[in-house]
This record gives sequence, structure tokens and C-alpha cells, in this order.
Amino acid sequence: MSQSIESVLTENRSFAPSEEFARAAQVKSMAQYEEMYRRADEDPEGYWAEVASELAWTKKWSKTLDWKLPDAKWFVGGQLNASVSCLDRHVATWRKNKAALLWEGEPGDTRVLTYGQLHREVCKAANALIALGVKKGDFVAIYLPMIPEAAIAMLACARIGAPHTVVFGGFSAEALGDRIKDAKAKIVITSDGGWRRGAIVPLKENVDRAVEGTSIEKVVVVKRCANDVAMKDGRDVWWHDTVDVASPRHEAESFDSEHTLFTLYTSGTTGKPKGILHTTGGYLTGAYYTTKLVFDLRDEDIFWCTADIGWVTGHSYVVYGPLANGATVLMYEGAPNQPGPDRFWDIIAKWGVTVFYTAPTAIRAFMRWGDQWPAKHDLSSLRLLGSVGEPINPEAWMWYREQIGHNRCPIVDTWWQTETGSIMISPLPGATPTKPGSATRPLPGIAADVVHKDGTPAKANEGGFLVIKKPWPSMLRTIFGDHERFQKTYFGEVAGCYFAGDGARKDADGYFWVMGRVDDVINVAGHRLSTMEVESALVSHPKVAEAAVVGRPDDLKGQAIVAFVTPRQGVAADEALAKVLREHVSSQIGALARPEEIRFAEALPKTRSGKIMRRLLREVASGSKSRGDTTTLEDQGVLERLAQSFAQEE
Ligand code: WTA
Repeated sequence: MSQSIESVLTENRSFAPSEEFARAAQVKSMAQYEEMYRRADEDPEGYWAEVASELAWTKKWSKTLDWKLPDAKWFVGGQLNASVSCLDRHVATWRKNKAALLWEGEPGDTRVLTYGQLHREVCKAANALIALGVKKGDFVAIYLPMIPEAAIAMLACARIGAPHTVVFGGFSAEALGDRIKDAKAKIVITSDGGWRRGAIVPLKENVDRAVEGTSIEKVVVVKRCANDVAMKDGRDVWWHDTVDVASPRHEAESFDSEHTLFTLYTSGTTGKPKGILHTTGGYLTGAYYTTKLVFDLRDEDIFWCTADIGWVTGHSYVVYGPLANGATVLMYEGAPNQPGPDRFWDIIAKWGVTVFYTAPTAIRAFMRWGDQWPAKHDLSSLRLLGSVGEPINPEAWMWYREQIGHNRCPIVDTWWQTETGSIMISPLPGATPTKPGSATRPLPGIAADVVHKDGTPAKANEGGFLVIKKPWPSMLRTIFGDHERFQKTYFGEVAGCYFAGDGARKDADGYFWVMGRVDDVINVAGHRLSTMEVESALVSHPKVAEAAVVGRPDDLKGQAIVAFVTPRQGVAADEALAKVLREHVSSQIGALARPEEIRFAEALPKTRSGKIMRRLLREVASGSKSRGDTTTLEDQGVLERLAQSFAQEE
């Protein structure tokens, strides 16, 4: 997404943290931030070793970092168990009786689990998984709604050294099946359904279709909705029949710092999603550190990150980061507008949420729904607001500040990725003056920069590629099963640097302005999708000869999917076909990938070498006149006809 003119104009607007906020904060001034940044930059290993030592290790590492680009090993030789750092060590203190998880279901049912209770449930689940045959190193797929069992399942996997692969409940059976196959998962944990806008999402049905012909041996089913589901003899077991009856005692084994904690699939430039692999010690260090610093976490906070555990934000800021800090986390199952557009504000008031972390798309939806909804509720418990997942436009930033934060709460706009594991660029709320639309400065320990393709730094306000020049603990270790793709994608673009795939610029104050992806990844409502993934889904339909997918700017979702489709000979290109194809993409990937618009074209514009000219399609899709060099177009007429058909339908 390109930077709006407006954000450039407003960048001189800046909001310093209030004195009151700064006084109580962990990092209280820019001078203190600069000092931390300098220290981390001069001695990264010393800095990170200090942070990591705040986790519960059973064996200290012998070497902090082993770095042979692109391969990083952190805390080499150290041993720990992620679930012990998140649970057992708190249970050994007064926090045993502190709320770990406050949960609200969409229908309004609630549950509260203290650290003691969460620990007990995780131990039971760990024992149940072992009884089902799960061993250290076996992959467990998790396909659950936002219910406490989702966090319990993740932590139970971590506890027994079985890497989890969480698949977002909005993904289709096909997409789930692809991920199960790629991970060679042995078990899948799901539920009879989940509540979404008053309806039941049929998760178990999707699992039944997804696991056919895969390595899945057992399906564990949580009863959530009293939904009638078929249970297959010998394969399917109920959570309550296995976990609830298991022993609550489980002595956790420690694992190597570099033991795989999880893989999480995300979209890249090709049609096949990548299994981003994170390991135990480094990932947990990053999640722990950033939660503490960016959210300025305190024991009395009630922290609500609205992300689903199917995304990395849910991994790092619903589960691992806050729990490693001994914080109280709120988790909500359903939609933000069920039963009304004020559900979130109702939840904040009811539970006394103090730190609220959500996505720009949600903020823009709230804006559209109207100021009267938040105004109806007491939001005075809030002290800090966060944003993540996509660039936030200054209008949305200002609305968030005024209508939700009542000009009182600092906003942390956090830039990071599935691959980075934890937040990389963000204000520190007690220190950094914020500018609407800028993620501001990198965290201490993160050597982020904006450079040209040849690695030379971009000048102030000059656009370039966002890179990270030094390894950090929570960086991905590989793409599961494809180390070469890992090397090429992330370390093959700018010599010596991690290449994020985002375009950015730094202003004269060194503030980062992230402009969006520079590759074929699009960001729809904060969800990362590859244009090729959607194209593959389209061409898998028998009526489609060829398809090209691009993103166009969208006021609400950031980007919307526009698909250009050439039907096969003799197939009528009509609204009925468009509808069929939209549904087809939805069943292949999930509703999040359903194209906003399908435009039929007799041919797609290609270069002489046969490459689809996406830049031109993007311009056609966003209605702008074609600029630039089109001399390599195989057939100029194709583009003109495309643009015309677009204009006519507008
Ligand atoms: C985008 C989500 C601008 C970016 C944590 C990145 C952002 C991709 C921001 C990663 C932000 C994330 N400002 N853009 N604050 N945060 N992005 O892997 O394009 O789902 O590369 O991780 O989201 O998406 P992912």
C-alpha cells in the first residue's frame, strides 16, 4: 500500500507521553531508550543474554549466539521448557492465585483460570497427549476457536516438546489439509464448533475432510457448542474423555534452546504457504521481552490482544509473551459486532481492560460504525493502546487516540512479522513521542534500517527496503522443509541482511514509516495472503483458463483482492460464474481470501517473456490510468480493453 499524502502532511504532528505515564513506565525517556539501544548495539550478545536470563532455564547456555548467516542459534546448549517459564515459575509464587486467563465466549459465557488452574489444565492436557502417543518432536495441529483450550493445547504441546501448528479457524478444510500434510502432523485438536456472529463455525466437519489421506492418527475434539458431530471410531476422542480424566501432575522435561517450539504457516510470494519455524529459547526471549517493554506490563494490568491464536500475534501476545510475564490475559471468542457494534467496549468496561491491542482494520470498522458505540461505555480503565498487522492511516490513529484513548493513552504502532516472532519497531509508551502513522523506532537490540537493493542506506525520507542487519533471538530459523527457500527469501535479497519484504522510509528523526509489501503479498484486513495462492485456487477451477490477482487500496480493509480471470473457451463470463469462483476460492483457502471483485478478461497483459504485468493490473484495479513503460506488453489492446471494462462497470 502506498503512503497517503495525508500521512506525509501530518508527520510533524507528534504526541509525547504524559509526564504521569512516563513517571511510572519502565522506560521513561528517549535518553533512556537511546542508552539502551546503544548498549544493545555495542554488545548484542551481552544484552540478549541478560534478557534471556529472566526466563526459567534448567541449564545455562554455553554460547549466546552462533551466527553463520543465514543460520542463527541462540543460547546454545541452554535448556528450558517454555510452559515452565509461562506457568510453573509463577505457580511457585503468589501468582498461583492470580488470574492468568479471563475468557468470554461470544454468547456471553465466561471462564476465569488462575495460574494455578491453567497450570493444572496444561499438565492434564500434556498427560493426555502423551497417552495418545504424542512424543517429543511430533507435530500437533491445532484448529480451535478462541477458547481457553486453545492456549491450553499450545502450552501442553510446548510442555512435551511436540511442536504445534496452529491453523486459523477461518481457513477451509483444504487449507487445513495442506498444512497438516506439510507438517506431517500426527494429531489434530479441534472442537465441535466455535461461535462467530451467532452461528457455529463447523470446525470438526472441516477436520473430517482435511485429514483424509494424511498422517493424522487421532482427532481430539473439545465440546464447545453442543453441536452434533460425527465421531470416527478409533480415531476421534473427546477432550473431556481424555484430558479431563488425566493426571494434573506432570514433571516437565527441559528441551534444547533450539528445539522447535512451533511452525506457523504464512503466505509468501508463491502459491504454497510457508511453515515459519520458531525455536524455544530465542522465540520465548523475544515474546517475553517485547511484551514487557512495549506494553509496559505490570502485575495489575489486564491485557487484551484481540488477535486469533491462528496468527502470530495470537501466539506471541495472547499466549507466550503475556504468560511469560505472569500477566492477566483476556481472550474473547467471537466477532466485534455481536450482538452489537459495541461488544469490544462492553468487554473493556466489564473486565477493566488496561492494555488493548488490535488491528487497523478493526479500528477503521469501529470508526465507520460511529462514535456513539464506544461513548456508551466506561473506557477509563484503559491506559495503553496498540496497533498491529498493517499500516495504520493517520485518520484511524487519531480516532483511536481520541475516541478510545480519550487523548490519555499512548498508542504503540508495532511493526513485525510472523518471521520476526516478536515486535521489532515500536514506540516505548513512556518514552517515545509518537507520530500518527509511524511505527517510530526499532526496539533496543533490533538493528532495523532502510536500504537500497545494494545495501546502501537510504537517505532521510527516501524509500527503500526494510531490513534487519543483525540476528535477533526470535527470528525464524527456517521454512519448514525448505531451507533453500528460507535462505533465498530472507537473506538472498540484500547482502548480509534479513529482508522483510516491506518498503519503508525513515524521516529526519529516524522514525520508520512502513509503506507496505514490495512483493506479491497482499494484506487484506491485516491478513497476509499471496496473490499466487489466490491465483492457484482460481485456476484449479475447471472453468478458468488463467487468472491474475492483485490488491487494490481499500478504505476499510487496507487492501482488497481483485482477480482478473480468463475463462476457458466457450464458458460464459457472467455474474453467475463470478459467484461460483468467489465461493471456490473461499472453499480452497477460506473466506478471508474471497475476491472482492472478479473481472473477466479475454487475455491478461504479459511481457514478451510471458510474465503477467501485475503493476499494470494493479493500476487498472485501482482505477488509475496506466503510467510508465508498457512497450514490453505483448498486446497493448488487452490492457486497454481491461481498463475499459473496468471503467464501464464503475
Ligand atoms: C504488515 C503480523 C505497517 C507488514 C504481525 C508485514 C505492518 C506484515 C505493521 C506481516 C505495522 C505488520 N505497520 N505494516 N505496524 N505490522 N505489518 O506475518 O507488511 O501476519 O510484513 O505478522 O504485516 O504480517 P504477519
